[in-house]
Amino acid sequence: MRELEGRVALITGGAAGIGACMARELAARGARVVLWDLDGQRAQATAREIGHDARAYACDVSDRGQVARVAARVKEEVGPVDLLINNAGVVSGKPLLELSDEDIERTFGVNTLALFWVTRAFLGDMIARGEGHVVTVASAAGTIGVARMTDYAASKFAAVGFDESLRAELRRSAPGVKTTVVCPYYIDTGMFEGVRTRYPGLLPILEPDDVAHRVIEAIEHDRPRVVLPFLVQLVPALRVFPVALFDWAADLLGVNASMDEFIGHGEPEPEP
Ligand SMILES: NC(=O)c1ccc[n+]([C@@H]2O[C@H](COP(=O)([O-])OP(=O)(O)OC[C@H]3O[C@@H](n4cnc5c(N)ncnc54)[C@H](OP(=O)(O)O)[C@@H]3O)[C@@H](O)[C@H]2O)c1
Repeated sequence: MRELEGRVALITGGAAGIGACMARELAARGARVVLWDLDGQRAQATAREIGHDARAYACDVSDRGQVARVAARVKEEVGPVDLLINNAGVVSGKPLLELSDEDIERTFGVNTLALFWVTRAFLGDMIARGEGHVVTVASAAGTIGVARMTDYAASKFAAVGFDESLRAELRRSAPGVKTTVVCPYYIDTGMFEGVRTRYPGLLPILEPDDVAHRVIEAIEHDRPRVVLPFLVQLVPALRVFPVALFDWAADLLGVNASMDEFIGHGEPEPEP
């Protein structure tokens, strides 16, 4: 999508984190930003701060019915969506046996199934108009499994497969509609508060504004993939080695110890 000026850009999970950073940059480039978030009030506050007529809607992207209803309101009140950024995400950060059934369902509901509900709500219009762009924010954990991430990594591997299959479908049926998948290592947004990186030179904790900027640049240049930092781009190539060697390299780099002191956003404060 070479020209962002005047385009309608919808960002899920847009109230905070890299979603809000991408929204700010898109608005600065003249896009009409629409934020969706679980927390409608926070989304409103972010939209007010962004200005440029940014709109905000409360929407739980894991709720199929809500997605259909809020998508219909957006189409009526703002117009057809040109750029969809599937960004909302959650992490549990627990070993498999400590995850509750609800943790697992929430992770897949937000990180994977929502990709289907939200993309299907807007893709038909893009195909009919012969242009559009769908961004899937996955993770480096969509390319390599990590200890304490069985649910998260599985949901993000699925997100990578979702993007790749959608790209293949669109290449054949609607070549004007592009996709981009985003696979970053840890970003300093609070979502992964407490994580450690053993070799910051090789695997730095990324800055939210830098990641957002790389995604917007990728959209402008129709780039299909954003994988950060460079070392993560080597993961698929490293799979030609025996599994034991691959695992040894991941352990050596501290990948599987990175979540040992994970805190994340923590539990919400109890109501006074
Ligand atoms: N941070 C990292 O290290 C990192 C690394 C790789 C990939 N990613 C991915 O990047 C994306 C953005 O993450 P971030 O770091 O910016 O995290 P963040 O600051 O926690 O932002 C995520 C946003 O998604 C919203 N959200 C959660 N569940 C939702 C739902 N059911 N419906 C609608 N919105 C919902 C959150 O709202 P509430 O806060 O109100 O729940 C929050 O505003 C995620 O997909 C994440 O998996 C993050």
